[in-house]
Amino acid sequence: MDVLSRPLIDRTLPLLAEGYAWLPNRMRDTPGPVVRTRILGRPALALRGPEAVRFFYDERNVHRHRAIPEPVLATLFGHEAVHTLDGVAHRTRKSLFLPLLEPGRIAGLVDHTTAAWDEAVPAWSRRGSVVLFDEASTVLATGVHRWAGIPLDDADAEATARDMIAMVDGFATAGPRHLRARRARSRQEERLGRLVRDVRSGTVTAPADSVLDLVCRHRDAGGEPLDEKTAGVELLNVVRPTTAVAWFVAFTAHALHKWPEHRAPLADGDLPFTAAFAHEVRRFYPFVPFLGGLAARDLYWRGEWVPAGGLVVLDVYGQNHDESLWGDPYAFRPRRFLERPVERDELIPQGGGDPAAGHRCPGEGITVGVLEALAVRLARTEYTVPEQNLTIPLHRVPTRPHSGVLLSGVRLPAVPS
Ligand code: HEM
Repeated sequence: MDVLSRPLIDRTLPLLAEGYAWLPNRMRDTPGPVVRTRILGRPALALRGPEAVRFFYDERNVHRHRAIPEPVLATLFGHEAVHTLDGVAHRTRKSLFLPLLEPGRIAGLVDHTTAAWDEAVPAWSRRGSVVLFDEASTVLATGVHRWAGIPLDDADAEATARDMIAMVDGFATAGPRHLRARRARSRQEERLGRLVRDVRSGTVTAPADSVLDLVCRHRDAGGEPLDEKTAGVELLNVVRPTTAVAWFVAFTAHALHKWPEHRAPLADGDLPFTAAFAHEVRRFYPFVPFLGGLAARDLYWRGEWVPAGGLVVLDVYGQNHDESLWGDPYAFRPRRFLERPVERDELIPQGGGDPAAGHRCPGEGITVGVLEALAVRLARTEYTVPEQNLTIPLHRVPTRPHSGVLLSGVRLPAVPS
């Protein structure tokens, strides 16, 4: 009997109920790092492990075209986004994002973001308390706009940050969160599409070599420039995920509260520890649950089969908590990253493989750089963490500390003499 006709119970409902635990729970019931299931009526094969990462990112095995459901495109990524392309079309579009991996550009964004943070902290001090997740998202949205050459009035920063967060927060749900995400995307695509039109008509000047300039001048595989809407979508694919680093900033505050012994090495500017800490935050805390594509042909993996057109799912959260890779996966232990070199396809909170050849996130260097800088600032800042609900519900995707991490009595760090 083939997979398509086997009477498997559709696993979509448990997925919605179990969230991050869904695939790891299924994997626990199977002998190997692979599980056959059904998602949205399709046969699906879920995999994990470095070898599985290489299998998943091989375009002969897995395609992205038509793999991403409309509700996810209409909120998280945008229609016609780089995430939806394969082959030459993908590599040509991806070339637009690869400069984001350059150390000089990362340093530039870190400078803008830390400057925005330093401007914001005095106001936090004047208020009795602040929700770190909200404040960090405004700081990040401000920093990435300045760096990318995208005009943003300070007065609009908070509302713009709310839209960026809404797009990420509402992609995996139905109901009000999802509607908010759709409305946020329409608003922001409209704003950035208009900006692209103004740059091209000469009404607005894009700073030379800025992200805005690169997107306006980019030509796709056919030699054509991006239409205004798609250009707006790709600008959002830089601004939105950079703002989303707020999730990791909130997780950082959670970690410093639960394990305060990590505060001193961060505050002291111990660079190797700071890098290890940022990696451990990305590994330990739940953000991306899994990634999916469509089988390009009938596929076998570790004795399990999925037919052409079936779903292939990379278990991101499961792999980042796989005991065979991490030993004590549910311990928050940054120093694990100082004990042995971690291979490219082991740590995959932002996808795996080679970012130039496949879909791995081109913003990984930015994420790590910004997170390191803000973790150090947080560790050097004085504040108290009042009684609040800091639980991180695993059934909610994406999840975060329930309170958003309320800080009170925020005090600027003492200026080093
Ligand atoms: C792709 C995660 C930050 C830009 C991805 C993918 C993941 C991811 C899981 C998909 C990989 C795949 O499909 O195989 C994250 C997380 C971030 C983050 C957790 C932290 C907040 C960023 C930043 C940028 C960025 C800061 C840009 C400044 C992109 C783009 C893609 C992508 C353009 C599409 C790549 C492609 O399809 O080839 N990200 N990302 N991300 N990310 Fe990120």
